Amino acid sequence: DNMRIPFIAGNWKMNLSVAESVEFLSAISGKLPVADQSQTAIAASPLFLQTMLEHNDDSPLIIAAENCFYEDEGAYTGETSPKALHEMGITHVILGHSERRKYFNETDDIINKKVHAVFRNQMIPIICCDETMGRRESSERISWVVSQVTAALKGISIEDARNAIIAYEPSWAIGSGQTASSEEAEEGCYLIRQTIADIYSDEVANEVRVLYGGSVNDDNANEILSQNDIDGVLAGGASLKPESFLKLANFQ
Ligand code: G3P
Repeated sequence: DNMRIPFIAGNWKMNLSVAESVEFLSAISGKLPVADQSQTAIAASPLFLQTMLEHNDDSPLIIAAENCFYEDEGAYTGETSPKALHEMGITHVILGHSERRKYFNETDDIINKKVHAVFRNQMIPIICCDETMGRRESSERISWVVSQVTAALKGISIEDARNAIIAYEPSWAIGSGQTASSEEAEEGCYLIRQTIADIYSDEVANEVRVLYGGSVNDDNANEILSQNDIDGVLAGGASLKPESFLKLANFQ
């Protein structure tokens, strides 16, 4: 058995408005599990973060960023500084989401630099590995996942690596309503944990939290979360409504 605390995260992507984010926080207020039982997080646009932090009061909800740049400051017009995120009180940043890889040409090398930047600024990355292969091509799936995890963690110390959170998000399951079966999700998360064990040690692999993402909803979450190597979920669509996020957050 393990001591890993479940991590239930929502990724709003480019949805909702600042006003709706405040309504969401007030709707879930007082209804989340306490943080030593289960951690909960919502990742939102940098446009929302300050307001959300101000309206989060004593809530255990972690307000996370969806991305950041790999330099702390400088002439990078339009980018989000990891240093500024840390300064405003952000503790977690999603990195390498498949939409970043697909629409913004983020490579493994860029994502690795961002992982370094997030740790350098005392935050925790939620590193996503994509998997664009069809679900039947499982040998390719293995090398794809292993290479993304290995590349993202290149040069990351063992002390930092234990705090990393990694999400397995097969592209074909994102926003498609086509969830991976719990066996497929477990297989991907197990593979990630084995990769961590190969790079670092069994001890580190036993500490790192691995999440599944891709059409998670309140019907399938419990079964997914009951798998050995799945420590939490990263939900897109199901995190946009307070009621459905609360169901995920209070899974049994
Ligand atoms: O990061 C979570 C996401 O990519 C999954 O989206 O809408 O399929 O839950 P969705």
